[in-house]
Amino acid sequence: MSVSESPERPPERPPERPVVLGIESSCDDTACAVLDGRGAILASVVSSQIDAHRPYGGVVPEIASREHLKNWPPVSSEALRRAGIEMGEVDVVAATSGPGLVGSLLVGLTLGRAIAYGLERPFQAVHHIEGHLYSPFLATDGGPADAIPERFIGLVVSGGHTSLLRLDGAEVTTLAETRDDAIGEAFDKIGKRVGLAYPQGPRVDVLAEEGDPKRYPLPVPHCGGTLDFSYSGLKTQTLVTLEGICRERGFETPFADTDEEPVPPEVVDLLAGFRAAAVRQIVRRLERLVERETVELLAVSGGVAANRLLRRELERWAAQAGVALRLVPLAFAGDNAAMIAHAALLRHRQGRSDDPLTVEAASRAPF
Ligand code: KG4
Ligand code: ZN
Repeated sequence: MSVSESPERPPERPPERPVVLGIESSCDDTACAVLDGRGAILASVVSSQIDAHRPYGGVVPEIASREHLKNWPPVSSEALRRAGIEMGEVDVVAATSGPGLVGSLLVGLTLGRAIAYGLERPFQAVHHIEGHLYSPFLATDGGPADAIPERFIGLVVSGGHTSLLRLDGAEVTTLAETRDDAIGEAFDKIGKRVGLAYPQGPRVDVLAEEGDPKRYPLPVPHCGGTLDFSYSGLKTQTLVTLEGICRERGFETPFADTDEEPVPPEVVDLLAGFRAAAVRQIVRRLERLVERETVELLAVSGGVAANRLLRRELERWAAQAGVALRLVPLAFAGDNAAMIAHAALLRHRQGRSDDPLTVEAASRAPF
């Protein structure tokens, strides 16, 4: 169980209202967070299921649901303890309703609905992407969240999504999505074939730091001049190149990725080439976007927003393009419940709420 760096609130100071309880269980992280009325994080607890899924090299939906049920009592108790409140002091209850694994979503959503109904509090069913979209505006020092600007472009890069969104006032428009695989999915699948332990994306990133991206250059798909993304072709080309390297050098996958059996330097170079092409595709789409419209601010979120090269390249691009950049704090890049409570607080302020008796989980949900 990991706890965000937010300091424990001094018990003598009552929290600003409304106190929001957030629940996130859309994939393999069981998370609970408490935010105050300023969007300051009083507690954010995430319990990862990495150990449970590692033997299978990826998330097993049935195991994920059972783990959520098992993890919820300690995760929620720890969040309330750190926030210094009792469940009865919560003013608004929020849970992710989709998209995600339906069995996983049902656990957190049903808990949230039951708590809201039992306490007779307003309930917010939050779209997972909405949580990510506003997460770059959260503060890591326990301070209030920054105000959401009237206009910005959101880039959400994760295991399930590669989305470019435009926020204009209260309206969110999807400008582009991936046509096939999400960027994080491509990192994970390539890493899995190499033999890396789940979750593979962060490990590919670490290995790629040591590699030469120019040794096996990979092309960036054009996607017909649109803003769309595509990662399936790049994934296939990387895997075909991997097979070629293995044939030529007599390697056999999977590599153990240990000190005794490290990933060979040729393969490390290929991973660096893949990462460079994956990141270049993002930058190319942003270049297209600024040719079409004025972009003042880009806010980047999602698990892949932790990628080292992506962060460096976006900083370089934004400085040169004259675009202000908000990269999600690393603590809130991956799935967490602070972002769900935060999106719920924004909805609550707009006077919105959902009926806890009727709201449903959706594995695929348009934003
Ligand atoms: O946002 P997230 O926790 O869950 C989804 O909503 O999908 O993102 C998880 C994804 C996984 O695919 C994981 O491998 C990837 O983010 N990821 C990374 C890095 N850290 C996490 N991919 C590349 N480089 C990283 N440093
Ligand atoms: Zn996510």
